Amino acid sequence: MRKPILAGNWKMNKTVAEAAALVTAMREGLVAIPGVEKVLCPPFMAIPEVARLVAGTEIRVGAQDMYWEPSGAYTGEVSPVMVKEFCDYVIIGHSERREHFGETDATVNRKIKAAFAHGLTPIVCVGESLALRREGRTETWVSDQVKAALEGLSAEQVASLVIAYEPIWAIGTGLAATAEEAERVCGQVVRATVAELYGAAVAEAVRIQYGGSVKASNIAELMRQPNIDGALVGGASLSAEEFVAIVRYSAEAKGLA
Ligand code: 13P
Repeated sequence: MRKPILAGNWKMNKTVAEAAALVTAMREGLVAIPGVEKVLCPPFMAIPEVARLVAGTEIRVGAQDMYWEPSGAYTGEVSPVMVKEFCDYVIIGHSERREHFGETDATVNRKIKAAFAHGLTPIVCVGESLALRREGRTETWVSDQVKAALEGLSAEQVASLVIAYEPIWAIGTGLAATAEEAERVCGQVVRATVAELYGAAVAEAVRIQYGGSVKASNIAELMRQPNIDGALVGGASLSAEEFVAIVRYSAEAKGLA
């Protein structure tokens, strides 16, 4: 069985002191929940402090992005070697990076390969805009994004990574996809595309998260879906109480707690 994975993407929120307070407030609550992987993705500045505060626990740390080169004259960038000092995971290709910072399917693919080259597990984000959804292009768009992201990866690599399906219209809007809709895309589009490319065993192994307005009040129904293995949580991961509840309800929905 795939181990559920709940990740908090803090985006550009929290100073180091605020991050420390947030981790300290949620740490015990998270550790007490069995059977589920928990990942915190603070902004770069706070990563060392968050990593220090969760050291010795099962809580893992992730970065929200990184560059693909290991070092060099790339002003402002952070390398996989630097991320690996503190992190096990790295979010790649979030829609906000695609929209505001010029990320493309090609850069996403390079970053995923760099993550594997440095022992990091990528959380690869895909998802359609409202316009694409209205045009009925969700399936082809998401499938094409998955194909482009995974190009050139080995079956073993794909089996080990995480794909986050985050419909852009659901991010930060309070309008989460329904559990049925999220399940349909995660199963019939994302997992089916992995199966088409890499076969049934790899598709069975890859973990697929849903992201977009996940809250304590809607997570259980999402997590009861067979093809939803976790969530990438934005705003609600900035509250210790809310994020701990999301993780606990996820474990319960999968029959683990
Ligand atoms: P919200 O949970 O704030 O909608 O954000 C989702 C997201 O983009 C996580 O990466």
